[in-house]
Amino acid sequence: MALHVVAARTDPALFGLPWSTPLAEWDDRHVVPLPLGLSRHVVRVVQVNHQFLAVKETEAAVALREYDMLRTLQRLGQPAVSPRGVVTGRVDIDGTPLPAALLTEHLHYSLPYRTVFQHGLRPDQVPALVDALVVLLVRLHLAGFFWGDVSLSNALFRRSAGGFAAYLVDAETSEHHEKISDAMREHDLTVAMENIFAELMDLQASADTDVEVDGHEIVTQVDERYHALWGELTAAEEFGTDEWYRIEQRIGRLNDLGFDVDELDVRADSDHVRIQPKVVEAGHHCRELRKLTGLDVEDSQARKLLNDLAAFTAHGGHDGQDPELVARRWLSGVYTPIVEILPPEQRGRIAPAEYFHEVMEHRWALSDEAGHEVDIFDSARDYVAHVLPDRPSDAPTGLT
Ligand SMILES: Nc1ncnc2c1ncn2[C@@H]1O[C@H](COP(=O)(O)OP(=O)(O)O)[C@@H](O)[C@H]1O
Ligand SMILES: [Mg+2]
Repeated sequence: MALHVVAARTDPALFGLPWSTPLAEWDDRHVVPLPLGLSRHVVRVVQVNHQFLAVKETEAAVALREYDMLRTLQRLGQPAVSPRGVVTGRVDIDGTPLPAALLTEHLHYSLPYRTVFQHGLRPDQVPALVDALVVLLVRLHLAGFFWGDVSLSNALFRRSAGGFAAYLVDAETSEHHEKISDAMREHDLTVAMENIFAELMDLQASADTDVEVDGHEIVTQVDERYHALWGELTAAEEFGTDEWYRIEQRIGRLNDLGFDVDELDVRADSDHVRIQPKVVEAGHHCRELRKLTGLDVEDSQARKLLNDLAAFTAHGGHDGQDPELVARRWLSGVYTPIVEILPPEQRGRIAPAEYFHEVMEHRWALSDEAGHEVDIFDSARDYVAHVLPDRPSDAPTGLT
């Protein structure tokens, strides 16, 4: 049987990979030695031209199903790895069939949770990491996805303004429906709690980190946080007809959580109003920043950048001017020159928006120490010289 590649865009270089050899035996001519999360299948990252792809060996039907699921997630703008293709029809040199392979794009600046821990995650940051997984789960549920196997290993983590953003990496057991039932959501949540607990215990038992966390407390937080966020995003709210401002309040709260309300159901009789968000979409700050500046960053990073832009507007005497014009000034006068202070050879290690955020934090620390406001460009140079060298890279070894 001939090699068969299913893909939206087939790169001819894909045919140059050693498909007649089991993935476990591919050597460093192709494989980039990156840390990966726990997996049942053999997974390797390879370099094809200038692209890094994750290759997972599995059965053809399973690979094709996961490929379709990842395409759907991508189409619906959900945070997940991007599917690149499925290779079937593999045989070894003796003609014995080999498993199919699912190809996904390696998610830049993302780390498996184990690596995040190895990079010195402080115990007080563990809730933020787990919280990112909860936000991802809520987003998937809102979009009608049942994950089926929620775990820290089945997600990837990107740093986002001191916190994290989680991306789905393993969609093998996922299902997409118009809407998913409360029972399915609860099932996903139960699996999440069991897996996270086991993964945290496993991590503490291993020698490569010294993180001490209370697993029971963390999974209780997962449960509470999931229900609180789901409630805020979907629950109906009733109030008197003299409290219309509560609509604005609710929208404001959802915006603060990073969501836009695309459809709000409002019913009113002579003395009661009932509101319920029907369609909410994540990425509130991210869209706002993209509209003003064209920058495409994580939502929490966008929130920080918008704050800096607001401060620039106020202090620079730009109040009342066209916001897009001021945003362009900020971009060319502040953001871009700060990012350019980052030496080119360091750019693979940290996402520009995360670097900007860390420079801002460093500036506060320096200003605090000095007792007066330190210039942002001086802060950036000081950050690059004294903080960055000891900061673990967000691009794992081999990709720096
Ligand atoms: N596109 C990708 N980018 C970065 N890492 C990936 C990618 N695909 C897989 N991985 C890594 O490989 C690990 C295993 O992948 P996964 O799909 O969960 O395999 P399995 O189905 O065997 O559990 C993940 O935890 C992740 O660390
Ligand atoms: Mg997995």
